[in-house]
Amino acid sequence: MSTNRRDFLKKSSMAGVGLAFLPNLLNADNKETFNAFKENYMGGFAAPKLDVVRCAVIGVGARGSGHARQLATIEGTEMVAICDLYEDLAKKSADKCKAIGAGQRHKDVKTFFGGEDEWKKMLDTVKPDMVVIATPWSMHAPMAIQSMESGAHAFVEVPIAVTINEMWDIVKTAEKTQKHCMMMENVNYGREELLYLNMCRQGVIGELLHGEAAYIHELRGQMNQADRGTGSWRTYEYARRNGNLYPTHGLGPVAQYMNLARGEDNFERINSFSSPSKGRDLYAKKHFDNNHKWNQLDFIGGDINTSIIKTSLGRTIMVQWDETSPRPYSRHNLIQGTNGTLAGFPTRIALEGGVEGVTDNHHQWAQGDGLDAIYEKYEHPLYKRLGEVSQKMGGHGGMDFMMLYRIVECLLKGQPLDQNVYEGCFWSAVGPLSEASVKSHGDSQRFPDFTRGEWKTTKPLDIVE
Ligand SMILES: NC(=O)c1ccc[n+]([C@@H]2O[C@H](COP(=O)([O-])OP(=O)(O)OC[C@H]3O[C@@H](n4cnc5c(N)ncnc54)[C@H](O)[C@@H]3O)[C@@H](O)[C@H]2O)c1
Repeated sequence: MSTNRRDFLKKSSMAGVGLAFLPNLLNADNKETFNAFKENYMGGFAAPKLDVVRCAVIGVGARGSGHARQLATIEGTEMVAICDLYEDLAKKSADKCKAIGAGQRHKDVKTFFGGEDEWKKMLDTVKPDMVVIATPWSMHAPMAIQSMESGAHAFVEVPIAVTINEMWDIVKTAEKTQKHCMMMENVNYGREELLYLNMCRQGVIGELLHGEAAYIHELRGQMNQADRGTGSWRTYEYARRNGNLYPTHGLGPVAQYMNLARGEDNFERINSFSSPSKGRDLYAKKHFDNNHKWNQLDFIGGDINTSIIKTSLGRTIMVQWDETSPRPYSRHNLIQGTNGTLAGFPTRIALEGGVEGVTDNHHQWAQGDGLDAIYEKYEHPLYKRLGEVSQKMGGHGGMDFMMLYRIVECLLKGQPLDQNVYEGCFWSAVGPLSEASVKSHGDSQRFPDFTRGEWKTTKPLDIVE
């Protein structure tokens, strides 16, 4: 072990959880400070194979309960612990896992509940191989960091963390402990997203120039969960923060089409603007008493936020977020190149010279049945292999199951995951950077380079068979 690495390990273990990294590590230019970890770079990291993946879940509310149930069905897992604040949720989830294992595979699913810090007890006593974290956003970073410190791979719901400092702490801890910390971006496993990734890799739309990504999903009804459930904590986020707080569903796939942070290009700058904030206040006034807690809040987050990301190669990505306005769901999912455009919501394709047998030129979209031949030719091999079973198992049309299946498969085979820790941080960094930009009237914010230049040596994601 090199002296540098030894020194770092000694220092960082002294720093412990929530490593006390200096504030200037926020800055993208700190390459020297981190040279000591270069040998620990996690860009294409593969952990040693596991014979059985001993899984724990922290947070089994709307999201985590599905993860626990689906993980329990995947060959090669053993569910070992479930933790939640609430006893009923923890026990219900553990019982479901046991039932799925028919009393054999998931024999001893321990439950932890009743206190904010029960998850720490769980990590210490159960020592799982992997921990799924599906709790409110503010807890993602501390839970991921301590999971890695306790010897587990961490799989964190979106976004991976809330602040840039937390993201650096996650990167450092992953490098120090040599544990995976993957943000679970399920949308990268959508059928359309996989198809477009495959088409981009095969050069169908030429050189990539521009992308559009969004999470537009009207979720005001969550405010009815005033005391428990998603709305009970997420409503405060709209009140306190102004930016794009939930950027990764649209951005993750577009970033992988463009090979951002993977050899070809990287995130460089972002400018962001928010519309006026109206909808949450109106909804609270209409649906809750004057003295209800939602009517005491001043919602500062604009109803719709629009950002433009500029990449190192000068490509652009428009990213939008709106969970408040009355309009249909969309993630945009658009990627435009010198030879055509692939778009989502609905799935549409325009190519220079037209889509063979369907359109005559690029002025029209091929869509619906007109895309049958495209699916025939470019369906992603992973979707061919797992699409049917994933649809049957469900979770956002099968994306959730495919993601969890791939995680377990990679851990069992000792292969790199489909999303590395740096991607989770770059995609999530749009949150705090957009907030900073909005606050400074749209001024451009620079992305920290979580890889410290190593993105140039990182392989693009394979077209996984
Ligand atoms: N990828 C997706 O498609 C998707 C969809 C929905 C939610 N999410 C993400 O999942 C996460 C959870 O969201 P949700 O809608 O399930 O919220 P939720 O409120 O329904 O669930 C969160 C759970 O965490 C538990 N919890 C809170 N503090 C805890 C603590 N200290 N120890 C143990 N448990 C604790 C709560 O009791 C609750 O049951 C969020 O990060 C959200 O962004 C992702």
